[in-house]
Formats: sequence, structure tokens, C-alpha cells
Amino acid sequence: MITTTLSTLIEMMLDYEVITFNNPKTLIESGLLENEKIDLVISDFIMPYMNGLDLLSLIKEKQPHIIPILLTGYSDKESAIKSINELGLYYYLEKPWDNSELIKVIQNGLDKAKLEEQLSQKLVVIEKKNQEISRLYDLLRRDFDKEMGNVLEFIVSLTNLVEAKDAYTDNHTRRVSDLAIALGKRKSLTQEQLRNIEIGAMIHDIGKVSTPESILNKPGPLTTAEFEIMKNHPEAGARIIRPISALQKPSEMVLSHHEKLDGSGYPHGLKADEISIETRIITISDIFDALYTDRPYRKGMPLDKTLSILKEDADKGKLDQELVGFIFEMAESGELQAIYHE
Ligand SMILES: [Fe+2]
Repeated sequence: MITTTLSTLIEMMLDYEVITFNNPKTLIESGLLENEKIDLVISDFIMPYMNGLDLLSLIKEKQPHIIPILLTGYSDKESAIKSINELGLYYYLEKPWDNSELIKVIQNGLDKAKLEEQLSQKLVVIEKKNQEISRLYDLLRRDFDKEMGNVLEFIVSLTNLVEAKDAYTDNHTRRVSDLAIALGKRKSLTQEQLRNIEIGAMIHDIGKVSTPESILNKPGPLTTAEFEIMKNHPEAGARIIRPISALQKPSEMVLSHHEKLDGSGYPHGLKADEISIETRIITISDIFDALYTDRPYRKGMPLDKTLSILKEDADKGKLDQELVGFIFEMAESGELQAIYHE
């Protein structure tokens, strides 16, 4: 009697098809749950074979989007309330129900289901758009990497240009670059910063193409006048690199790689915060390599002597303390020696 009343009411008031069962077993065995999409279910609580809560949770497993409503007698109210959270019960109605309340509850439940479906469709569209965006990003990234590859080839050839002129630059740029990248990693710099450091290190002395060979390869200390000419190479280098827009950051490193934190460096006498971490890294790597390896007028210094000079400069406030500390750590772990014995 209840199912007939309910289905008549719902079909009259709402434009929905209603299917009724008088026993949970008949519903389960009908195959309906496996073969039809059902929007909403109203179940009694006390029934033969299984109770309403067990039936609703079984239906929800098979039809996750369904709106479950429970009809209860006054005495079952407690368990109905508990199951609201547990089961995701949409509503419970006490018997005897009020027709207009029942219709309102059903209508709201169906509206909610429709909104949820629209939302999940929108999410699918958004997910597709996201995939499209990451595909485009990958394409752009590939273009950029190709472009950077071309720039790097050009840089290697610029480096070769200086090395051809300055006999003692032999492999200096490669080692400075290896050391600078290792320091940058210890400092936890980003991939972009590391790439700029690698380029900056490779081209830091590019300005030496403008320095006379007699000064570059002089087998003895430079006179003051010669040193003044030598000191032009950072600005000359920056002028060469600046027109390449992809190399703005590295050109700054080229310009400032002889600056010291206490303002005693050249060409601009920059101080502490005016010198970027990338440039500080190149400066220290350059100094370490210049001291440790053979120069035109003297043999390279032993490692401990080289390290103590760096420490002195750091103590005087010329070099970055933390970076010099990293070089000591690298010497201890053997990482430093590996760069020099490859
Ligand atoms: Fe230099």
C-alpha cells in the first residue's frame, strides 16, 4: 500500500519514472541496480530479508551517485541519524510523512544530483584543458631548450676564442664552471640559476680577447700600467655579451667577477649586497683555480696554501664566508680534487 501511494504521488507531482519493490531481495535479484542508472532511492527501515540501512549502503556501492532517503518509524530515529554521516544518507522522513515535505525533499535531492553531475562534467573539461596546457608547456620548454642549446654552442666557441689567445686559460673555464656549479648546488640554487652560473663561468673572461697577448702571456708579474689594461676585461666582456638577451644574467657575472664584498674590487668597487650570489660563486671559483693551478709566471700552490689564502680573504670581508666554507667541505670530501683530476 505504501509503495503504491508513494509512486502515484511522485509520478503525479514530479516527472519521474518510479519503480517499486516490496522486498529488498526482489530488488537485488532484479538486476536493476546493475543495468539502470537510478537517481534516487527511498527505502523503509524495517523490511524482510535486510534492514533499510544495509540495503541503502548496498545500493550506494553499486550506484555511487544515488540520493538515498530513509523512511523511518519514530523508534528507528536514532539509528537513522547515526547513518546520515556513515552512509551519506541524504534525508530521513518519519512516518507518517507529509506529502508536500516528501515532494520537496525529493525535488531538492534530484536538483543536488543534477548539480553534482554538471560539476563533475565541468571537472572533466577542466582536466582536459589542464592536459592541453601541460602539452603546450612541454612544447615551449622543448623550443626553449633547443634555443638554449644553440646559445651554449655559441658560448663554447667564444670560450675557445679566448683560450686560443691565452695559453694559460687552458681548461681554466671548464674547471671554474664545474666548481661554480658544485658551489651553487651546495647553496641550493634553482636550475635556472645553475644554468646561468654555468654560462657565466664559461664566459667570465671573454673580455680578454681585447687584452694584448703580451700582457696575457707575460711570464712574470704585471706592471701597474699593464694591470690597468688587464682590468678592462670585465667591462669589455660584458659589452660583448650584453646584446644577447638570453644572456643578461651571465653578462652581469662577466662584468662583476672581480668585485670584492668590501668594495676593493673592480671595475665598480661594488659592495656586499650589490654583488649577486651567482657572481660571488664565480669570483671564488675563479680565484681558487687561479691560485691552485699553474700561471704564466709561477707554479700552482698546494691545496692547503690555496685554502688558507681564501680563508684570509673571507676573514678580511672580501669573499663570501659561507662559500669559502663550502670549498673547505669539498676539499675534505674529495669533491674538489675530483674536479682537478678528471
Ligand atoms: Fe677575470
